[in-house]
Amino acid sequence: MGKIKEIYVCSSCGTESPKWMGKCPACFNWNTFEKQTQLPISGNFNLSTKLNSMLNLNNTLPIQLSNVDLDIDTRYPTNISEIDRVLGGGLVKGSVVLLGGAPGIGKSTLLLQLSNNISPDLKILYVSGEESISQIKIRANRINMNSKNFYLASSIDMHLIADMISNIAPNVVVIDSIQTMNLATVSSSVGSVTQVRECTNFIMSIAKSQNISVILVGHVNKDGGIAGPKVLEHVVDVVLQFEGDRNLSYRVLRSIKNRYGSTNEIGVFDMKNDGLNEIKNPSQMLLDGRPLSVPGSCVTCIIEGSRAIFIEVQALVSKTAFGTPRRNTSGFDYNRMSIIIAVLEKRAGYFLGNLDIYINVVGGIKLVDPSCDLAIACAILSSLTDKPLFYDFIVLGEIGLSGEIRNVEKLEQRINEAIYLGFYNIALPKCSTEILNKFNNINFIIINNIRDITKLFS
Ligand code: TYD
Ligand code: MG
Repeated sequence: MGKIKEIYVCSSCGTESPKWMGKCPACFNWNTFEKQTQLPISGNFNLSTKLNSMLNLNNTLPIQLSNVDLDIDTRYPTNISEIDRVLGGGLVKGSVVLLGGAPGIGKSTLLLQLSNNISPDLKILYVSGEESISQIKIRANRINMNSKNFYLASSIDMHLIADMISNIAPNVVVIDSIQTMNLATVSSSVGSVTQVRECTNFIMSIAKSQNISVILVGHVNKDGGIAGPKVLEHVVDVVLQFEGDRNLSYRVLRSIKNRYGSTNEIGVFDMKNDGLNEIKNPSQMLLDGRPLSVPGSCVTCIIEGSRAIFIEVQALVSKTAFGTPRRNTSGFDYNRMSIIIAVLEKRAGYFLGNLDIYINVVGGIKLVDPSCDLAIACAILSSLTDKPLFYDFIVLGEIGLSGEIRNVEKLEQRINEAIYLGFYNIALPKCSTEILNKFNNINFIIINNIRDITKLFS
């Protein structure tokens, strides 16, 4: 037997080095090197080569595109429309999905519900390395699970799991979570970069060779990224993120990478006592309980994937008690707020230099759509002047540095959603009269420049 080797592996990109380094030379991240002990690998045990041969990646003869056979029936619909939308129509046969999320957010619950709703003809094997079978049973009872073809196992040994797979021959395998799994042929400790990477390669080779769909649960690190090597995200087919504020009941399922569909879609759920409930109309929920005719509040519409979602933004402007005014945002980019404040000062003539400004996006949503700039500016001015906007008013528009209000995309979709929710006053930048004429029951207020914003306040 050869010598046990000690190496250092970058937890971000998987780069190996014989010495510890402060900064990774490959991905330039700091403090990412972790010590690993490596046992010499006996024989020709090389998972990457094995995986390549399973995927037929070493095929030397190129095939004409028109001659490539397409397996038509390649997706298993989960029958939960919010998940299907994010996956692009269902779980792809033989695909590996990585589901990341903070502890306690509801990943295990989501996957149990998925297993319960997927076609009863499909065999599901759910392997938990974190909970005992009876603990899972308690949760399954809570969500009224009644699936017949559902097999449960509590194990962390990948070879044992491989045996179970060959005995049961499931169509879908859930591994909860990949960070708890252990491959005996790899000497690194459970949860280490090498162990996680090798376990993923191992399960991937099974998934691809036997055409099994695999869902891996991944823990997230303190920055919100999936813990373990970044390479993990590169090798799997789909990366999903389950997010939300643990103090609030709603959760958002987002796709970060999807080899078989769009990455723009989101699925929204509400965590109730009987598990996760789909939310078909997130706007209604986010606007529920909104105070009417209150200064500093403004409603805007963002596009998330194919959906228009209505969101309330709030601002509080108050006289500063200290020398330097405090500025704070929640759910909105701090630097973007600084730009909007600067434009308000320079182009609209408001003096905000001695005022504290706080911005809050209601519901813990993170706003990235630039079309919400004007709503932020309106909320700030509304709080500054202590004048509320009309309660059925929505504001759309991106603010340019010279104070111009720029057009927003998917305007018609946003207007349709506004009508559906009962908003009949819309402030928006100059746009084609064709669109405006289509909706003659709506009161449009055109804002060309940030200077015109005062017409929104009575
Ligand atoms: P869980 O699925 O265990 O989260 P994760 O796998 O991401 O760590 O869900 C944990 C939380 O969800 C727990 O705090 C309890 C809550 N919960 C409900 O509110 N209702 C339910 O029906 C279930 C099953 C869980
Ligand atoms: Mg869990």
